[in-house]
Amino acid sequence: MGEVIAISSQKGGVGKTTTTVNLGASLAYLGHRVLLIDMDPLGSVSASFGHNRYDIVAGIIDIFIEEVPVSKAIHATGQENLDFIPTNLWSDEGEKRKLIGIAPKIQLKKVLQPIKEDYDFFIIDCPPSLGNLTFNALTAADSIIIPIQCEYYALKALGRFLKLIRIIKNEQNPDLRYRGFLLTMVDMRNKLTRIVIEKIRYTLQGLVFDTMIPRNIRLAEVPYRGGAVITFDKNCTGARSYLNLANELLGHKVSTVVAAEKSGEVKVVTEV
Ligand SMILES: Nc1ncnc2c1ncn2[C@@H]1O[C@H](COP(=O)(O)OP(=O)(O)O)[C@@H](O)[C@H]1O
Ligand SMILES: [Mg+2]
Repeated sequence: MGEVIAISSQKGGVGKTTTTVNLGASLAYLGHRVLLIDMDPLGSVSASFGHNRYDIVAGIIDIFIEEVPVSKAIHATGQENLDFIPTNLWSDEGEKRKLIGIAPKIQLKKVLQPIKEDYDFFIIDCPPSLGNLTFNALTAADSIIIPIQCEYYALKALGRFLKLIRIIKNEQNPDLRYRGFLLTMVDMRNKLTRIVIEKIRYTLQGLVFDTMIPRNIRLAEVPYRGGAVITFDKNCTGARSYLNLANELLGHKVSTVVAAEKSGEVKVVTEV
C-alpha cells in the first residue's frame, strides 16, 4: 500500500511544485516507485518534465469529470520508477474550469484505490488555494508536507490553512497526519532568515524537517531542463537537499498532531 502525501499550502510560490517533483524524483532515485499527481491547474508538474498539453492523453480532470480510468492518465516522466498524472485544466478551457467548481463525480481517494499497490508513494501537488481540489487531495491523503518560505509573515499565513486541515481531519479523514513542515528557499546568509527559522522551529515544535531546502539556481532550472534536478546535476546543493529530505522522510515516524489556531499565530500540540 503506497503512502499518499499531499504537498500543500494556501500560498503560491513557496516551493510546492519544486518539492513534489524533486522529492518524488529523489525517492524514485532511491528505488521507490513514485506517482506524482498534478492537482494544480497551472500544470507545473507536467511542465517540469517537458510535457505540454499536446503530449497529454488524459489528465486528472478527465478522471474526475469524465470518469476516464486512472491507468489512461498515467504518463512516464523519463526517469526510472517515476510516473505522473498531469492536470488537464488548461487556463483557456473555461468549460472545464466551470466544471471543477462542481463536485467531481469521483473522489481522488477512490481513483487511487485500484493502483494503491503499484506505487510506494503518491505525491500530490496541490493548488495554492483552499478550494475543491485541495479539499479533494487532503481527503485522499495519508499525510501532508507543508512548504514554508522563510519570511516574516510565514506563520501568520498558516493559521487558516491549519484550520482547514483540522476540519478535514475531524470530518473526512481522521487518519491524516503531518509528515512535516519544510523550510524552502533558505538563504542562511540573511539574518532575518535565521531569526524566522528559529521562530518557526520554536512554534511548530519538532514538526519541521531538519532538512532545509536552500535557494539554488539549479532547482529553478528544472522546467527549462525538463527533468528533476537529480537527473541533470545530482551534486548541486539543491539535488543533495532533496535527497536528504527523501532519506529523512524514509526514516521518519509520521507524527500525530493537532493544529490549533490562536489569534493568527499557530500552535501545534503533539498527541501521544
Ligand atoms: N529552492 C529553490 N531555489 C531557487 N528557486 C526555487 C526554489 N524552490 C522554488 N524555486 C522557484 O520559485 C518559484 C516558485 O516555486 P514553486 O515550486 O513553483 O512554488 P509553488 O508550487 O508553491 O507555487 C519557481 O519559479 C521555482 O522554480
Ligand atoms: Mg505550484
